[in-house]
Amino acid sequence: MFAYDKKDSYTFSFTSPDELRLYMERNGYHIPFSKDISPLSAKPVIKTPHGEITLKNSLATHPMEGCDANIDGSASDLTRRRYARFSGSGAALVWMEAISVVPEARTSDHQMMLNDNTADSFKSLVADIKKNDAFVVAQLTHSGRFAKNSDTPHALFATRSLPFEEKRPQDKDVPVLTDDYLDALPEKFAKAAKIAEDAGFDAIDVKACHQYLLDELLSAHTREGKYGGSFENRIRLMVDCFDAVRSVLRPETVLASRLSLSDMIEAPYGFAVAEGRPATPDLTETKKLLEILTAKGLSLVDMTMGSPYFNPHVNRPYNRGSYMPPEHPLVGLERLIDASREIQHTFPDLTVIGTGYSYLREFAPYVAAGALKEKAASMIGFGRMAFAYDTFATDMMAGKVDPKKVCIACSKCAEIKRLSGLTGCPIRDQEIYLPVYRELCMKK
Ligand SMILES: Cc1cc2nc3c(=O)[nH]c(=O)nc-3n(C[C@H](O)[C@H](O)[C@H](O)COP(=O)(O)O)c2cc1C
Repeated sequence: MFAYDKKDSYTFSFTSPDELRLYMERNGYHIPFSKDISPLSAKPVIKTPHGEITLKNSLATHPMEGCDANIDGSASDLTRRRYARFSGSGAALVWMEAISVVPEARTSDHQMMLNDNTADSFKSLVADIKKNDAFVVAQLTHSGRFAKNSDTPHALFATRSLPFEEKRPQDKDVPVLTDDYLDALPEKFAKAAKIAEDAGFDAIDVKACHQYLLDELLSAHTREGKYGGSFENRIRLMVDCFDAVRSVLRPETVLASRLSLSDMIEAPYGFAVAEGRPATPDLTETKKLLEILTAKGLSLVDMTMGSPYFNPHVNRPYNRGSYMPPEHPLVGLERLIDASREIQHTFPDLTVIGTGYSYLREFAPYVAAGALKEKAASMIGFGRMAFAYDTFATDMMAGKVDPKKVCIACSKCAEIKRLSGLTGCPIRDQEIYLPVYRELCMKK
């Protein structure tokens, strides 16, 4: 494998798709590549227990939290502008960002929230997105460890986690959430799911990723009681929330999940990792969980790995960020593609969306097409690219990506999000987001 050169992560020096391909070949990366980009325009089929849904192409926008909702959790004008861009990009599927099911679990006072008061706002937002003929997914979440808002004096921990507490020792004294608190959550997910369905969403995501609450519980090896320890206990709340959501939805509404296939946090604190250091993925438990959920009707997974709060380079390969990534970004991309392939090959009927491709800039279409060709995923999602480039999907499918519009993997959107500012791309969408970045991040 390519010896990691520190300077290398700060530059993206490929000037042609062939140069990238040769570099990957010479350095032993098993990253798919196809000059034929027609797979991007292929129409994937989501197979549900109640029928099949055909989408207009194989590209999606990932959930991207914008921290720009009104204080009541409804969509602001800026939220609407983001979704007009996402759906106008030409992508077939728009996976809406993290939407809190309860007020105390919001990541900021401006996270979206689904309840009776915000239902109408979601209804008109979804109707606007659908004008662009996109399939729309609602991401339901409880932000647990990362809850941070004026209603909640401290974050809401599901389990003790040494790796996180080493970073924030003050969290050691905060008690973990009780079984009683967790017992009440499936009903809250179900209520939000019903409102989302009535608002017109096509699919409901029970989110378990990035160490937010349901994912943190998947890794709660050291928690005592019915939600910790054994595999059955750790998946209990995820499965209960999934069941509760399923029980209130119409059969034609698609059941989905944004799932961390592996947290890549050392055992015993991460989900789906092999024993030992450094953390490496072991997807045995992920497959066991997916066996259970697909049998219950899960049809759509937006795969991811790691946690942006702990190992962001795993989650989104980048050139620049809050720390120097300990590996070349292509190592991270290869890991994401390997995991996606393993799951897609094990569950061929599941629609798996691949991730991490924004790092590749204007060359992303070739790797995305290669991944689709070898069925390493059914669709390819773009997150940071969607913030940056408002017609990325149409341009990718046409083979006309503008290098001046692509994401440059600089992590500035993540910096803004971390400080709960209005989140978007300060490089390519400067009018709105450069002043935000200057004010919030450069004055720090
Ligand atoms: C600013 C920002 C906000 C994000 N918000 C969410 C979110 O609300 N829900 C989620 O599941 N992932 C979220 N993610 C992760 C992305 O969906 C995606 O997995 C990641 O950016 C890698 O994809 P990319 O390489 O196309 O950017 C966010 C990422 C960033 C940088």
